[in-house]
Amino acid sequence: MAGGGHIEWVYNFYAGVYDLVFNRFFESGRRRALAAMAPRPGEKILEVGVGTGACLPMFPGGVDLTGIDFSQGMLDGAYKRVREHGLKGVRLFKMDATKLDFPDDSFDAVLAAYFITTVPDPRAVVQEMKRVCRRGGRIVFVNHFMAPNVFINDIERFFAPFFWRAGWRSDLKLPDFLRMTNLKPEKVELVDRLGLWRTLYCVNHKDAAGPEEVREKTRFLPAALKRWGKRLAPLKLRK
Ligand SMILES: C[S@@+](CC[C@H](N)C(=O)[O-])C[C@H]1O[C@@H](n2cnc3c(N)ncnc32)[C@H](O)[C@@H]1O
Repeated sequence: MAGGGHIEWVYNFYAGVYDLVFNRFFESGRRRALAAMAPRPGEKILEVGVGTGACLPMFPGGVDLTGIDFSQGMLDGAYKRVREHGLKGVRLFKMDATKLDFPDDSFDAVLAAYFITTVPDPRAVVQEMKRVCRRGGRIVFVNHFMAPNVFINDIERFFAPFFWRAGWRSDLKLPDFLRMTNLKPEKVELVDRLGLWRTLYCVNHKDAAGPEEVREKTRFLPAALKRWGKRLAPLKLRK
């Protein structure tokens, strides 16, 4: 699988049009994630992969907010949003989520909105999120996970190499994600009717990571599509 450098390039490329394309589309998921987290004034909260800061105005006043992202283009959008909304108490850093430059237990809660499928190694990133979040703190995700419908699954798997080139992976299954990260969500909610996007509310027990990811094979694609898949093998996701 292409690494973080490719993803950083992609999001710098999108930065100028990201809000135009994705703001409304992702808004209800962001609101649900914030409702699940229920941030309180005085709390220290980290958003990993803050992007252009679309979630930032949704936090209540008095929250001590930190956002990190490794795309300077996306961060510039976040600075603009902070200025335009007159947000106070927001700190933004250019930082890689695989190596968070914060001491252990720095935050009461950590948010990952539409982020976890943009990293090549979600398992490692979640360990970093657990490390910087205090024990008993909240870790909340809103993200696409593979749909419960097996036919949609095969489409998601087949197009995974293309989506990865476009900046995210479409083939992460929720049970695999939970197994590899050893997260046990207290609450999982659907954001849309097809079950493509979900919010996860987890309490940080500082558990060790689970086993490395195991990929299932494509099951229902017609043979012709499978052959095409083989021809496109050089684009396939690799560890
Ligand atoms: C799909 S955007 C989501 C942005 C925002 N959370 C939202 O709700 O719109 C994913 C963001 O994660 C960032 N990102 C991906 N991998 C990262 C990493 N390893 N470290 C820091 N940021 C990363 C990208 O630059 C991008 O801004």
